[in-house]
Amino acid sequence: MAFSNVQAIILAAGKSSRLKTGKTKLVEKICGREMILYPTKLLHSLNIPTTLVVGFQKELIEETIKKQIPSGITFVEQKEQLGTGHALACSQSLWNAQHILVMNGDMPLVTQNIIEQLYAEHMAKDAVFSFVTAHNCEPTSAGYGRVVETDTSISIIEAKEFNGDLAENCCINAGMYLIKRSFLEEHLEKLEKSSVTGEWYITDLVKLASDNKLHVETVSVSFDRIRGVNTFKELWAVEQVQKAEIIKFWMDQGVRFTIAQNVHIDQDVTIEAGSYIDSGVQLLGATKIGKNCNVGPFSLISDTTIGDESVIFSHTIVKDSILGTSVTVGPFAHVHEKSRLEDHAVIGNFVEVKRTTIGANSKAKHLSYLGDTHIGNKVNIGAGTITCNYNGTTKHTTTIEDNAFIGSNNTLVAPVTIKKNAYTAAGSTITQDVPEDALAIARERQVNKLGYAKNLKQRDEKVSSKEDDKSSFIAAVKSNNFENAS
Ligand code: UD1
Ligand code: CA
Repeated sequence: MAFSNVQAIILAAGKSSRLKTGKTKLVEKICGREMILYPTKLLHSLNIPTTLVVGFQKELIEETIKKQIPSGITFVEQKEQLGTGHALACSQSLWNAQHILVMNGDMPLVTQNIIEQLYAEHMAKDAVFSFVTAHNCEPTSAGYGRVVETDTSISIIEAKEFNGDLAENCCINAGMYLIKRSFLEEHLEKLEKSSVTGEWYITDLVKLASDNKLHVETVSVSFDRIRGVNTFKELWAVEQVQKAEIIKFWMDQGVRFTIAQNVHIDQDVTIEAGSYIDSGVQLLGATKIGKNCNVGPFSLISDTTIGDESVIFSHTIVKDSILGTSVTVGPFAHVHEKSRLEDHAVIGNFVEVKRTTIGANSKAKHLSYLGDTHIGNKVNIGAGTITCNYNGTTKHTTTIEDNAFIGSNNTLVAPVTIKKNAYTAAGSTITQDVPEDALAIARERQVNKLGYAKNLKQRDEKVSSKEDDKSSFIAAVKSNNFENAS
């Protein structure tokens, strides 16, 4: 649908005082995306020219928008937060379309379909003021403005001023309006301050239109889609709805979830068909999961690309990294800070990989730390190996070339290079480069002292019998029973 002669104003200047964090709620993330980006991205994608009214922490909001939508959104300031009617008035100098679509900035679940319904209804009825409503009789909806209708009038009564029966007045105001500019130009200045809060309410325009016998239209939609966010409880409720939407979407794309209700997937994550997401998994940021992957229970993947057929075992963290195809990581592994695991690499339990490249078919299966390391193809890293990449002031690089074999419990002191096909013996502390095809042994040579174990045993037995004498004496003193002391 084309929206001709419409421009949008998003009200985003409010203080968010009900959140109690001292910070604007509009940059709180819902499924990884800042709340204000939901309506802004939607309107931008519909090619509706959009202006944000900003005030409280306006720099933060502008920066958030510009990062995602570099151009095409304009901003206007509401210096003092004097209510939603006043916020709209602050944008007046920018009005040029015939119809002004006004939206609260804190209603992230609104869809294109709702905007289309509002527009279609407004145009079909030639209304001067159209707005979105929903029905909710629950006490949790007590904070919303109530739509009160008689045979001849319609108005919105704000929650703080409403003293009717909530159950009888279930129709609430969603916070989204399509208004003829000519009506606003004539009537906006007639708004009066609320005697309760001292604010100018956009919602009072409904009564003004109605009193002037002008056509007011309403469009009723599902409450879930227009939920507003004033408190963390409401934010949580909104995120539950969005989370479910995201998971159902990926189910339709052929992704299997074991226990979908405790999985968290951010808005911008993608998953290809045939993949299996286990219980408690978090897929965050710009993560991309390939085909037929398996992400094990309680793993967290953030801003990472994972190739097809890869397996992430349970309790693994992978951040800001790239994994090839058929890679295996975990359980209990940590891959982060721009690491890269090439095809068929294997990272096993209790292995940390940081700023490191692991070549194709290379393996570090147990208890290792690999930091600032370049590992070639078909390398084996023995259990317990660590790279000493940091000397307290500077980070240094370790290079391990193709087909090298690092024995168990090695300490590789960077900067150091282990060349192609080289071996290092178990327990080595490698401080110098190891040439191609060489075996490096960097540990004390073993000495066997024959018969020595027996002597040690006898000595230990003597010591322990003296200890026994001492402890039975102490016990006797404590219990005052010297008869038992021997
Ligand atoms: C508003 C509506 C209420 C509706 C509800 C839907 C009014 C008076 N009330 O109430 O009828 O049921 O939304 O969620 O409009 N803002 C400004 N400047 C201000 C005050 C607010 O830009 O001076 C912005 C806020 O940042 C927010 C939006 O306007 O994005 C709505 O303000 P909010 O305080 O959340 O209104 P509600 O009390 O929820
Ligand atoms: Ca609100």
